[in-house]
Amino acid sequence: MKGIILAGGLGSRLYPLTYATNKHLLPIYDKPMIFYPIRTLVKAGIKEIMIVVGGPHAGHFISVLKNGIDFGIKHLEFAFQDTVDHKGKKIEGGISHALSLCEDFADNSSVAVILGDNTTDADMSAAVKEFTDGATIFLKRVSDPNRYGVPVFNGKKIILIEEKPRKPKSDYAVTGLYLYDNTVFKRIKTLKPSLRGELEITDLNNSYIKDGKLNWAKLSGFWTDAGTYDSLFIASEYWAKKHL
Ligand code: G1P
Repeated sequence: MKGIILAGGLGSRLYPLTYATNKHLLPIYDKPMIFYPIRTLVKAGIKEIMIVVGGPHAGHFISVLKNGIDFGIKHLEFAFQDTVDHKGKKIEGGISHALSLCEDFADNSSVAVILGDNTTDADMSAAVKEFTDGATIFLKRVSDPNRYGVPVFNGKKIILIEEKPRKPKSDYAVTGLYLYDNTVFKRIKTLKPSLRGELEITDLNNSYIKDGKLNWAKLSGFWTDAGTYDSLFIASEYWAKKHL
């Protein structure tokens, strides 16, 4: 299985922190944010990693990560998620679009995908080892599900995921850690942009649900995204205390 970290976007929710560098290079306690998803993948035995970067400070990743050797990465590649094509026409962005840029890198393998602003101490090794096909998502109970993708259950089965619903039908967040088989790239090509003009990861997961191919597990351990002032603070506080 190959690893993919999606670290595109402008980080505008964190302005002015992201005026001068990329969101994923901001500190979570004593490390740049991107170190955390890298560590999660490497801990799960995944050593071939592609990072999708974007925005005006994308070049900063190279000075921070170099060849990735310090992290135990054997092979590190970057892709750039542009906002316009070569003719200057706007590209529909989004997380699924970022993932589509990794098709050649995946080279028919399945992929473990982590959003670059997600930090967790969960161990994905077992899920990675057991993975055969379809998709596996990881859920975490949260107090503010309306900020996330939220599963709708029928018994233990997920029948739909709703993206940032106003009235969430469960109190679980779909975390930004996903395992996909190689059909993921074919599926992305069938997605239509959402109302906010993005190819959504939630629509991708719903395509697996439609085919009866989505598995889920509860994520055990600490998890948060760090894309808002408050969650960035919570993440820093957690890791600072854990290091004590
Ligand atoms: C994204 C996904 C959402 C998921 C979340 C996890 O939201 O769209 O489904 O629950 O990541 O961090 P975003 O961070 O883009 O608002």
